Parts: sequence; structure tokens; C-alpha cells
Amino acid sequence: MSKAGRLVVLVSGSGTNLQALLDASADPSYGARVVAVGADREGIEGLVRATKAGVPTFVEKLGDYATRADWDRAIAAKIATYEPDLVVAAGFMKILGAPTLDAFPVLNTHPALLPSFPGAHGVRDALAHGVKVTGCTVMLADEGIDTGPIVAQEAVPVLPGDDEAALHERIKTVERRLLVENVGRMAREGWTVSGRHVRIGNQSGGEST
Ligand code: GAR
Repeated sequence: MSKAGRLVVLVSGSGTNLQALLDASADPSYGARVVAVGADREGIEGLVRATKAGVPTFVEKLGDYATRADWDRAIAAKIATYEPDLVVAAGFMKILGAPTLDAFPVLNTHPALLPSFPGAHGVRDALAHGVKVTGCTVMLADEGIDTGPIVAQEAVPVLPGDDEAALHERIKTVERRLLVENVGRMAREGWTVSGRHVRIGNQSGGEST
């Protein structure tokens, strides 16, 4: 069974999910702490949040490498220096390659109820489709785009008059809580994966027995 004490969190933007993890891990009983924050770009609020919390940061930009494979190896090597038990992609807008996925469990968070509306515009795509309920998904990453085994989901209603920004903000309020709850439980109780089914601690999974 895997356990998640040391977290490396990857961000590409405002980093409010990162902030929620930083805040939660200030309490030692949470069971996990953020040991480093990585990004694929400079000048983002997520990196500022890490620095304010006294957490080391690194940036690996895709454009600095000749090939995607070179970047994949570089970011995996950088992550490895912090010896994480779990990598959390919290608004990280790049697909991680085999060098990272083969070396560490990677948790991802997405602002839609997967498998609906994967990709970079989950909120916009759900609104455009006219769904009445959307939400957020915390899942383990695999090499696909938001296709990995699901850890937790929570629904958020779409309200009349919602635009992308308003709906995304409401989703993110739920998403931060869901992410913090599940990272904490994974840290304290451990988890196992069987096919598409993730089981935290002794929680009953989705398998039929
Ligand atoms: C979150 O809603 C996250 O699910 C989304 O970016 C936002 C980051 O917010 N990620 C994706 O859409 C990935 N497909 P934050 O920077 O404030 O944590």
C-alpha cells in the first residue's frame, strides 16, 4: 500500500489548490506536507504562494528543451531530487510523461465530472454542452488526458446565468476541499489501485466481489 507524506505540487497558474494544501499541511496531524512546488512557467501566483510559505520552487519550461522527451526527463529528475511520496498536479496544464509517471504516483485534479469534459477547458466545455450538473474529479494520472483511475468526485450544479468564471470559482471551492480531504486520507491511510479502482485505507472500493 502506498502512503503520501512528502508532496511535490505542480502548478501553472493561480495555485489556490496548492494554497489549500499548504494551509492544511501546516497542521502536522494532516499527515502530508509540501516539500517543493514545480511549475512549467515563471511569474505565476502559485510560485509566489510557495515562496511565501517557505517551500522551495523550481521551473521547467517546455520551450527550454529541444524535445518533449528531454523536458519529460528533466522535470522527472527535478521532482526526484525532493523524494516525493506523491506528486500532485494542482492546475498543472501539461501532460506528464513516462519518466514522471513511472517513478511516482501522480494525483491530478480536474474541474469536471470525468470522463465528461477532459482537457484544458473542462468548465467551458461543460457549459457549452448545457449540462445542469458538473463538478470536480480527483484522479490518479496516467498517460492519457484526464483518463486515470478516479479517487473522488463531487457534483456542483450549473446555475442559470453562470459564465465560465463564476462556475469555475464555485467548482474550485468544492475542488479545494475534495483535494485536501483525499490527499490527507491518502497520506494517513495509504491507498491501493486495482485496475480502475482506487481504495484509500479500508474504504470499500468499486469492485464487485
Ligand atoms: C483547477 O480548477 C484545476 O482543476 C484546473 O485548473 C484550476 C487551477 O486552479 N485544472 C485543469 O483544468 C486541468 N485539466 P488553481 O491554480 O487556483 O489551483
